[in-house]
Amino acid sequence: MPAPSQRITNISKGDQEGWEVYLKAVEMIRSGEDVLMLSIGDHDFPTPVETIDAAKKALDDGHTKYTTMQGLPDLLKAMAKVSTQALSMPVTTDEVVTMAGGQSGLYAAMQACVNPGDHVIIVSPHYVTYPGTVRAAGATFTLVSCSPENGFEPKTEDIEAAIRPNTKAILINTPNNPTCAIYSRETLQGIADVCIRNDLWLISDEVYWSLSNGKHISPRSLPSMKKRTIVIISMSKSHVMTGWRMGWIVAEPGMIHNFIQHNLVNSYGISDFISRAATDALNNEYGVGELQALFTKRGATFRDALTGADDIHILNEDGAMYFMVDIRNVTMDAEKFAFDLLETEKLCVMPGDSFGPSAAGHIRISLCQPEKQLREGANRLKRFLSTYSS
Ligand SMILES: Cc1ncc(COP(=O)(O)O)c(C=O)c1O
Repeated sequence: MPAPSQRITNISKGDQEGWEVYLKAVEMIRSGEDVLMLSIGDHDFPTPVETIDAAKKALDDGHTKYTTMQGLPDLLKAMAKVSTQALSMPVTTDEVVTMAGGQSGLYAAMQACVNPGDHVIIVSPHYVTYPGTVRAAGATFTLVSCSPENGFEPKTEDIEAAIRPNTKAILINTPNNPTCAIYSRETLQGIADVCIRNDLWLISDEVYWSLSNGKHISPRSLPSMKKRTIVIISMSKSHVMTGWRMGWIVAEPGMIHNFIQHNLVNSYGISDFISRAATDALNNEYGVGELQALFTKRGATFRDALTGADDIHILNEDGAMYFMVDIRNVTMDAEKFAFDLLETEKLCVMPGDSFGPSAAGHIRISLCQPEKQLREGANRLKRFLSTYSS
């Protein structure tokens, strides 16, 4: 076989895996063990029936053909309307372009903003695909760590210190997976100042914007940031549509033109019936409010059930569909803790350092389980803590 390109083989090169606990749990389930999974961010219930019905109708009506590289006109209107709400600033149809999910948006954004040999700053703890997405564009990166003491928000001076002559972009995620931090206006202004001073792109992953209890601020809305910010939005988390692969980018019209060219050579546009179902789901907000209420309620249930576990602390309770739990009073070795928890209590959680070294001594709990299971999970965790010695 001829050698594959370095571009493709580099994508996952050097990544710490971090999924060992999860993979072990999957293996245990396969061999019949009753493992409680509080690890993955995929909803435990289906897409709202209205969205499914809209897709079925679109199929019955014969909407199975090519669409357009930017997106169908009604979908663009719906995306612009929702972006206006998400970003708290006017967004027009020439400032949006469809992508096959948030990940596709991240990939396209990185391809559009950096050249091979450029350097990118990734604020960490970070979503697992970020390093590979940077490497896929032929660039290198530096992880800038956020400390739990600062609520896992980045410090301007740390970002500034990581700048190199070839730095082209900063990649941030708010509300954040895994830490649930929702960056404050001050934090975002600090990042914006660095971008402006150094003429950098800001790639802003806002796929969890609707799960912030109204606290999300988009950096694109800050003065002078409109033209240098690329926002990634997705319907995966907000509309329970992970498997539909529907998201979009918000950027200046000139950059949207570039993304249209990207779609031309990549996906040739997203699917017709999904476009139409997504339009309906966006216009009618199918599932959105219910989802926020549900995760808020689940969060409260888990927190209450953990009462008495005084050695550990839940951080950042408002963002996304996870809890980051500080276990540093118990151990810094979150991976060993998670393995032992899995063995002893058949409870699977993610070690924090799977998402970057600054989350050592933390575990991430996913709230994608019914309340009964979350209560059970909290009880297993408490029981485990009562006897654990690292
Ligand atoms: C922070 C973050 N960004 C992007 C994505 C990708 O989402 P999508 O399903 O829209 O590709 C995820 C998925 O978990 C995520 O957590």
